[in-house]
Amino acid sequence: MKVIGINGSPKGARSQTLRLVNSVLEGARRAGADIEFLDLCKLNISYCIGCDTCHDRGRCIHEDDMGRIISKMMESEGFVLGSPVYMDAVTGQMKTFLDRLNDAVYCQSFLGKYGCAVATTEYSGLNEVLGYLGSIMHRMGASTVGAVGAAVGLDSAAIYQADRRAFEMGRELVNAIRAKRGYPDQERTRAAFMGRMKHVIRAHREDWFHDYQYWKSMGWLED
Ligand SMILES: Cc1cc2nc3c(=O)[nH]c(=O)nc-3n(C[C@H](O)[C@H](O)[C@H](O)COP(=O)(O)O)c2cc1C
Repeated sequence: MKVIGINGSPKGARSQTLRLVNSVLEGARRAGADIEFLDLCKLNISYCIGCDTCHDRGRCIHEDDMGRIISKMMESEGFVLGSPVYMDAVTGQMKTFLDRLNDAVYCQSFLGKYGCAVATTEYSGLNEVLGYLGSIMHRMGASTVGAVGAAVGLDSAAIYQADRRAFEMGRELVNAIRAKRGYPDQERTRAAFMGRMKHVIRAHREDWFHDYQYWKSMGWLED
């Protein structure tokens, strides 16, 4: 079983968010997973330019590190996404990475996988960022086992408490993967989302050749 940690902080080894990502990975490792870490800020990831080539042909026009990252995610059963709060949102690096996963939403590429989120902030935006990261994982088909954050500017002990909770969440991630745990609330949200996406895929049947064929092959367009 493989679990990947992905951090969107530009602060490298000094990142507080990295601490939480590493705690999740350590919890997962102790529970028996192979772990790997990816620092988005050390990778070459171009902006999505909205050309829709992914929807039409099933591949991106950019030749950068994203293909390798997606392959690693596809080979793993679980992942943790981490971002500091920047202007009450995820960092630009995390957002650029997520934009490039747009076709993973339409193809539900991470169906059957499990994820969790971590974030740090001085004082604001923590729940918004944790909620956002979780909802994007749901959109790509993954189930989430939880989220852990710390407002480090409000409480100097918050990071230590969050560290412990992140470690436990790593164990929980592995347990959920092993048990193939179901989350009925998330499943209902996903079903409603798929219902809305079906209209989008049908509306684009002439120009999103890849995604339309993919949905047909998966039997997702039958009513
Ligand atoms: C550009 C920038 C924007 C930030 N925006 C916010 C913010 O909106 N609210 C907040 O409470 N902290 C904000 N912070 C503080 C970071 O969220 C906080 O220091 C965080 O723990 C950094 O995580 P890192 O060490 O993993 O990079 C911001 C920091 C920077 C550099």
